[in-house]
Amino acid sequence: MIAKASAPAKTILFGEHSVVYGEPAIAGAVNKRAYVTIKPSESDATIFRAPDIGFEAELITPQRKYILLKGKPGIIRYILESLYRVHDHTPIDITLNSNVPIGSGLGSSAAVTVATLAALYRYHNIRFNKQSLAHDAHMVEQAVQGVASPLDTLVSTYGGLVYLSRNKKVEHFNVKFNAPFVVGYTTKHGNTGKMVKDVRNRRDRNPKIINPVITAMGNLTNYAKQAVLKEDYDKIGELMNINHGFLDVLGVNTLELSRMVYNAREAGAIGAKTTGAGGGGSIIALCPGKVDEVAKAIDHDDNILKVKFTRKGVSSRVFK
Ligand code: MEV
Repeated sequence: MIAKASAPAKTILFGEHSVVYGEPAIAGAVNKRAYVTIKPSESDATIFRAPDIGFEAELITPQRKYILLKGKPGIIRYILESLYRVHDHTPIDITLNSNVPIGSGLGSSAAVTVATLAALYRYHNIRFNKQSLAHDAHMVEQAVQGVASPLDTLVSTYGGLVYLSRNKKVEHFNVKFNAPFVVGYTTKHGNTGKMVKDVRNRRDRNPKIINPVITAMGNLTNYAKQAVLKEDYDKIGELMNINHGFLDVLGVNTLELSRMVYNAREAGAIGAKTTGAGGGGSIIALCPGKVDEVAKAIDHDDNILKVKFTRKGVSSRVFK
């Protein structure tokens, strides 16, 4: 029997960092996916292969350990944690194919985790639904990372655009939103934990300045919610630009990020901002009718992706 599952990557449109202080956020699934295939092993070992990144390892699933056969480990801890929680440790072959570059800031770990768990549930004929899967994937991310916001795994499971309210209620937007985006990522991976801590320190040193900004970021996300509902791209673009300024105030933008943001705007993007934790990582530019111009303006060494939001969340099936 072969079990296959796939899940989309995501991008945060509004609300990174302010979401840590209970403010709302908007994130969406994009048309880049992680694909996981599980079948019985051809040997008596469990082998994990990710041909797109040239990685191969033998997995010792009861101990969440691996023996490196080829390449650089990156995503492997999410696979091991998922297997540890669900698998009966019989030998299997797991293959990961992905068009989500690791470290592109598109939440590749959430996409891989959701797809791995869904494939495992199918393989073992375990009943699940989107709610339980999003929850379990969040638990895996938390176990691996220590802290994780539930937003990434929610979006990778359900697909579409998601609004997380001030009281942590999840709303799914029922809009098409098919405007194109360009994502530009830097060579430096941002360290989310460190960036969150740096923002907290800045806030502690300057509470009367930073607290109102965090509140304003929440208000901005709520304006953006209305703009998304009306599919008012010009307004969304304007709010993205303001949001980038707020992220500057919080101190998470870098020269490389802001240079890409300004180059994108110069090339015709109607909005551009850092997305995710910053300090490295990536930017997102909204550029209807100007995708190629914006991509060209910020591309160096293939560090761009052209993406669109997608309603397609996790999908999985079994082949007997
Ligand atoms: C990172 O992608 C988003 C942050 O808001 C952290 C989090 O929400 O966990 C910076």
